[in-house]
Amino acid sequence: MFTVQALLLLDSILQLVIALFTVHAPSSIYITQYGSTVNMTCMFPEADGLRMKDLKVYWHQMSSSQMVMKEIYTLDGGKENLTLQDVSYRGRATLLTDKLYKGQAVLQISNVKLTDAGTYRCLIIYGGADHKQITLQVKASFTEIATWTEKMPFSTTDVSLSCQSEGFPLPEVFWLSNGLNISLSPSTSHTITVNGLYNVTSTLQVKSSSSQNYSCVFWNRELEERTVKYVHLADEESSDLQRSLVPYIVPTCIIAIFVSAVLFLKRKALSTCNKKRHLNPSS
Ligand SMILES: *[C@@H]1O[C@H](CO)[C@@H](O)[C@H](O)[C@H]1NC(C)=O
Ligand SMILES: *[C@@H]1O[C@H](CO)[C@@H](O)[C@H](O)[C@H]1NC(C)=O
Ligand SMILES: *[C@@H]1O[C@H](CO)[C@@H](O)[C@H](O)[C@H]1NC(C)=O
Ligand SMILES: *[C@@H]1O[C@H](CO)[C@@H](O)[C@H](O)[C@H]1NC(C)=O
Ligand SMILES: *[C@@H]1O[C@H](CO)[C@@H](O)[C@H](O)[C@H]1NC(C)=O
Repeated sequence: MFTVQALLLLDSILQLVIALFTVHAPSSIYITQYGSTVNMTCMFPEADGLRMKDLKVYWHQMSSSQMVMKEIYTLDGGKENLTLQDVSYRGRATLLTDKLYKGQAVLQISNVKLTDAGTYRCLIIYGGADHKQITLQVKASFTEIATWTEKMPFSTTDVSLSCQSEGFPLPEVFWLSNGLNISLSPSTSHTITVNGLYNVTSTLQVKSSSSQNYSCVFWNRELEERTVKYVHLADEESSDLQRSLVPYIVPTCIIAIFVSAVLFLKRKALSTCNKKRHLNPSS
């Protein structure tokens, strides 16, 4: 009696498990580069051929309070419906429909913006219904660092070295001298660009006579990402020198051309006069 009951119970549990429709997210967090394309995947059980007309896929972005959702993508009965798509995703979000046949609902977002960062939810209805949440982090690496040097106005020996770059999140900036961390504190400031990126400038003052070499380091502690740029003292000075010579070189060339043109015309005029004199000896 007891065993029969147990068997019946086991059987109903098994049937429940089989009938249970579960969505699964192979990756619950994606870290992507600003401006790139990201594919976020939810998996659903799809056996013996996809019945497109029974499939509904919804992708939303949840606000931090989880009270408001932005609609990103809707597939209803195998047809996409972007009527309620949030404007910020217009033209940038799509579902890779060929992946549906493998039981994958892949949301592709292109030209990723900083405001895309947050929590996403896929909801899939296919007989049963289930959803999963995925976190998207967006970073913008400080890959291109501009450098320049400037002589300090009231000093003959001091020179200031600067590094500037744009990215996200806000980095720590420190400087290396001959490969070693400098205890001298640089002055680092930032502004925020229209795209929400940090525009960071760091300046260090050194003695121009020093034989040391200097590099600035943009360090993202959270992502353990660092970008180093060597600031060449001598090169910067010589390129400054070249630039400062331009105002002299250009007018000098113009004057030289002018003078040779005048000389040439004068010589030509002289020779014509001589010819004329030769033809008309009376005059
Ligand atoms: C996203 O998926 C598309 C189509 O399968 C592929 O071409 C692209 O390389 C993928 N991108 C990333 C970042 O995984
Ligand atoms: C698309 O979705 C909107 C809002 O849910 C709905 O009113 C409309 O009928 C749908 N369009 C189609 C073609 O299903
Ligand atoms: C800077 O100095 C360090 C230590 O002396 C040296 O290893 C490195 O090669 C130098 N870098 C350049 C670009 O000269
Ligand atoms: C260099 O020094 C700064 C503070 O002076 C510190 O924040 C940073 O972590 C140091 N970096 C390395 C690589 O030691
Ligand atoms: C970033 O800052 C630098 C130096 O302050 C400035 O020259 C540059 O125009 C700024 N760029 C943007 C995009 O704000």
